[in-house]
Amino acid sequence: MKRIVLGLSILTLLGGGGGGGEAPLGLPKVPIPKDNPQTAEKIQLGDKLFHDERFSTTGKVSCATCHAKDKAFTDHLPVSEGIDQLKGTRNAPTVLNAAYFKSQFWDGREPSLEEQSAQPFINSVEMGLKDHEPILKIVRTDPEYGRMFEKAFGIKPQQITMKEVKKAIASFERTLVAGDSPFDRYFFGGDKKAMSPAAIRGLEVFLGKGRCVSCHTIEQDHALFTNHLFHNIGVAAQRMPVNLDELRTAVEEVKKKGVDVAVLSNPKTESLGRYAVTRELSDMGAFKTSTLRNIELTAPYMHDGSLKTLEEVVQFYNNGGRLKETDPIPELLDGGIRPLNLTPEQQADLVEFLKALTSSQFIKK
Ligand code: HEC
Ligand code: HEC
Repeated sequence: MKRIVLGLSILTLLGGGGGGGEAPLGLPKVPIPKDNPQTAEKIQLGDKLFHDERFSTTGKVSCATCHAKDKAFTDHLPVSEGIDQLKGTRNAPTVLNAAYFKSQFWDGREPSLEEQSAQPFINSVEMGLKDHEPILKIVRTDPEYGRMFEKAFGIKPQQITMKEVKKAIASFERTLVAGDSPFDRYFFGGDKKAMSPAAIRGLEVFLGKGRCVSCHTIEQDHALFTNHLFHNIGVAAQRMPVNLDELRTAVEEVKKKGVDVAVLSNPKTESLGRYAVTRELSDMGAFKTSTLRNIELTAPYMHDGSLKTLEEVVQFYNNGGRLKETDPIPELLDGGIRPLNLTPEQQADLVEFLKALTSSQFIKK
């Protein structure tokens, strides 16, 4: 069986007395929950579960369909397609470095990788199962899974529950970390030649006039490029409910179907963002600050995949949360989003900087 471990050997991941493994340059230790320590057996099992297409109604969709290794764990579609080419409403974020996020999904509706992993199986536009029973039936009767669950958890096939399935998938995902980019070598490694002069100028824009760093955080000794918070930067502005009736309808849908199904099946409900989870007005249209690591490899961009290139992203920010200056100024916009007045050169430099965030294992020599 293929085992995918990026940038790290399993042994280093297992190190640190269960507290978390060594990480590549520019990243902190991977946080490992106390009740789900990393083991080689569990990681291998999670890898297999992540790639198993039998856990969908059509037998053709696995986690890896939308989070494909050769696409930097995304699908390169504006919004994902699940069973029978059914389209969702959101762009598949990369699973790389998701191990570090304090919440999962664009609206942070799940607190951990363990809890996140149970949702796609039973989402009607993703893997389409009615409940988790078909998964348990497969893993309890397939002899290879029987052996693997026994090794990983010391249990017999009939004792397997979703708890173990979720733990194994999360353990596998915690190996999908990628740092050591030209930026890391320049900034943390002290190699002044690791970034091009244009990327170095772009870093200055990122830290200064562009104010990108106020949300896409860089710390003293590592950078996750996210503050783990939610902001309305204007992306869903055109779809947001325009009056109280529309808002009520959307909220009713969330209450009836649950956030996961409601937001992935209706673009208007989708646009509520973090509000669908908290019902706080300040969260209306707000989405989780994305990590920018490996961003060159994960187009298209934003939670709805509406921006095709990094040039468009920079243009969007430069115009204060809209692609064109002639577009209306979005409502309820975060205070940090204002026109930036960057010169064309500064915009190009900023793009070069974003391209310097690609981890070494993805850079073709
Ligand atoms: C049909 C495509 C599809 C399938 C299948 C799928 N995902 Fe996703 N994944 C998505 C989309 C789209 C999102 C964003 C949804 C949202 O935020 O509402 C997402 C979000 C995530 C996130 C959150 C990352 C972040 O930055 O917050 C993780 C982790 C993840 N998926 C892992 C998995 C796992 C594990 C499986 C299999 C059990 C899986 N996905 C199956 C499309 C898919
Ligand atoms: C106020 C906080 C904030 C500021 C300032 C900010 N961002 Fe973002 N950024 C976000 C949020 C939130 C998202 C996700 C928004 C969405 O999809 O609705 C995002 C998304 C992105 C994405 C797309 C990520 C993906 O995976 O699709 C890129 C690229 C990006 N930002 C770059 C920048 C750059 C460059 C700057 C500076 C010019 C900047 N950001 C300034 C909060 C911010």
